[in-house]
Amino acid sequence: MSAFHAKAVNAIEDARLIGFVDVVKEKARRRAEEFGGQAYDDVRRLLERKDVHVVTICTPNGLHEEIALAAAAAGKHIIVEKPPELTLERTDRIIAACRRAGVKCSTVLQSRFRVPMAALKRTLESGALGKVLVGDVTMKWFRTDAYYQRDAWRGTKSLEGGMFMHLAFHYIDLLRWFMGPVKSVLAKTARLLHHAIETEDTGMAILEFASGAVGIVEASTAAKPGRDVRLELHGERGSVQIEGERVQQWWIDGREDEEAKARLSREAPTASGSETAFDWEEHRLQILDVIDAIRNNRDPAVTGEDGRNALEIVLAIYRSAETGCEVTLPLSDESVLGRHFSGII
Ligand SMILES: NC(=O)c1ccc[n+]([C@@H]2O[C@H](COP(=O)([O-])OP(=O)(O)OC[C@H]3O[C@@H](n4cnc5c(N)ncnc54)[C@H](O)[C@@H]3O)[C@@H](O)[C@H]2O)c1
Repeated sequence: MSAFHAKAVNAIEDARLIGFVDVVKEKARRRAEEFGGQAYDDVRRLLERKDVHVVTICTPNGLHEEIALAAAAAGKHIIVEKPPELTLERTDRIIAACRRAGVKCSTVLQSRFRVPMAALKRTLESGALGKVLVGDVTMKWFRTDAYYQRDAWRGTKSLEGGMFMHLAFHYIDLLRWFMGPVKSVLAKTARLLHHAIETEDTGMAILEFASGAVGIVEASTAAKPGRDVRLELHGERGSVQIEGERVQQWWIDGREDEEAKARLSREAPTASGSETAFDWEEHRLQILDVIDAIRNNRDPAVTGEDGRNALEIVLAIYRSAETGCEVTLPLSDESVLGRHFSGII
């Protein structure tokens, strides 16, 4: 991901890339050679620099906290890749440290900046779709065994978290952004194709929202060859369906809006078959937003709390899958409802 961040930073006139840190210094050196800046193998050396104002964190999912806390303590704003961390406790510590230090904290959830997603959010806020009744995500992706074997942390519970945590996270965040807080979750997970990994590669979750709306998230990295994610919202006044970056349906008040469909759509890869097959433009937009938030001392468009909200839903999915019970949010030790259900897998 650091290459995506570097390309995005280098495309922003107002930003300067100062350096890369990697515990494997050779990796930092290669990045610095390609994109500019200094290479370090100790984050403290970078944090000592007065000309560093923002740190973007692209280490494995379960290794964000220590760097985030050190950066906040050094007075640096942080942009932390999703998920912010693997537990609510660690994420809360990151958010609290940033608040204490008076620095901004933004979770990278760049799909919110995707043109049709941002347009859908504006449409929902205008009330044009009416109350949303149903929201579904179908993420039929494919990842190879080589992808999981490439780095020791992939497919592990302690450092990656699982397919929902690592990949469906973006789309769970989008549903939460569009539809508001989730009230309960009923889920099933399975490891169907990637037998060497520790976590699920497939799963389904039924979500009930506080608004009364319902939704389904169906996600997998075992669906060859992988197709673009489909997100569908059905409101009182119509339906919107987005597949990848293409708007397939924008039907409101009895009319299919062909103009909006053409204006908001483009053909672009969205990582369905390979982890690097997508554009860094959305990262650029999110980093631009953080710079503006710092300048104008406002919250970033995507906050640490936003990352926490999506994380809580993912953790509820895992708790439901483990217990076979419906799980209520906010998560607490007592969040499991006694209602068992018969599995579908
Ligand atoms: N926003 C997105 O669409 C998106 C896509 C892919 C990955 N990500 C996220 O980006 C992060 C990194 O994923 P990746 O695929 O680039 O992983 P990666 O394994 O390719 O890179 C992680 C790097 O971190 C280094 N590292 C590990 N511990 C470190 C430490 N303590 N200090 C400094 N460096 C350390 C590793 O040596 C490695 O070079 C993850 O949180 C992942 O979820 C986000």
